[in-house]
Amino acid sequence: MRKKIVAGNWKMNTTLAEGVGLAKDVNEALAARTPNCDVVICVPFTHLASVAAVIDGNKLGLGAENCADHVKGAYTGEVSAPMVASTGAGYVILGHSERRQYYGETSEILKTKVNLALENNLTPIFCIGEVLEQREDGSFFNVVKAQIEEALFDLSAEDFGKLILAYEPVWAIGTGKTATDDQAQEMHAFIRGVIAEKYGKEVAENCSILYGGSCKASNAKALFAKPDVDGGLIGGASLAAADFMGIVDAWN
Ligand code: PGA
Repeated sequence: MRKKIVAGNWKMNTTLAEGVGLAKDVNEALAARTPNCDVVICVPFTHLASVAAVIDGNKLGLGAENCADHVKGAYTGEVSAPMVASTGAGYVILGHSERRQYYGETSEILKTKVNLALENNLTPIFCIGEVLEQREDGSFFNVVKAQIEEALFDLSAEDFGKLILAYEPVWAIGTGKTATDDQAQEMHAFIRGVIAEKYGKEVAENCSILYGGSCKASNAKALFAKPDVDGGLIGGASLAAADFMGIVDAWN
């Protein structure tokens, strides 16, 4: 059966001291629980090694928010997949809409990043999702399908099986405007169908598809109750341990 996952995306928030404090709080809260899902925090590059040192890696996964599309060399300011892996991280968010929108990340670039992440034993949390205009003009299924096909469909079935997907409608990110649970379910089922067509039913059934976009403790239970919603990628509500744990507990 596919995994249930709640992953935090801290984005560009917290100083190192604040981040280590938050990671400790999450770690402590998890130590007192037996969560019904995998729990991951994706933190700024600067925090990775320090956070790895204070969490119990058996109960709390650690990820980066991006990695470079090159392995090493003259790419000032970039952080490679091997560098991320060397901190102890096991995950990396790729294709987040903020990276696509503000940093010009195309499907071609993302394809390279996914390959490098997999080569370095990082689990990509690969984000897809339409902007408001595409939701309104009805092109959202085609948009999401193209994002998946362009960046991921050169992968072998075995490698595709290592991915986590996150459907994040851009109009719901940080806006307080969550997709309804029916809208999420409709898209997640569609995505699973797209995967099934290419890789077969088994790969599709085993793929965890998270929902992201203003997910919080108060709406997580209804979203996670949908059959094709396998958890959440959480931005704002991952920045306080109690809020984040409220979402983890939605699986109970
Ligand atoms: P949000 O962000 O939960 O703050 O809407 C989600 C995300 O961008 O991953």
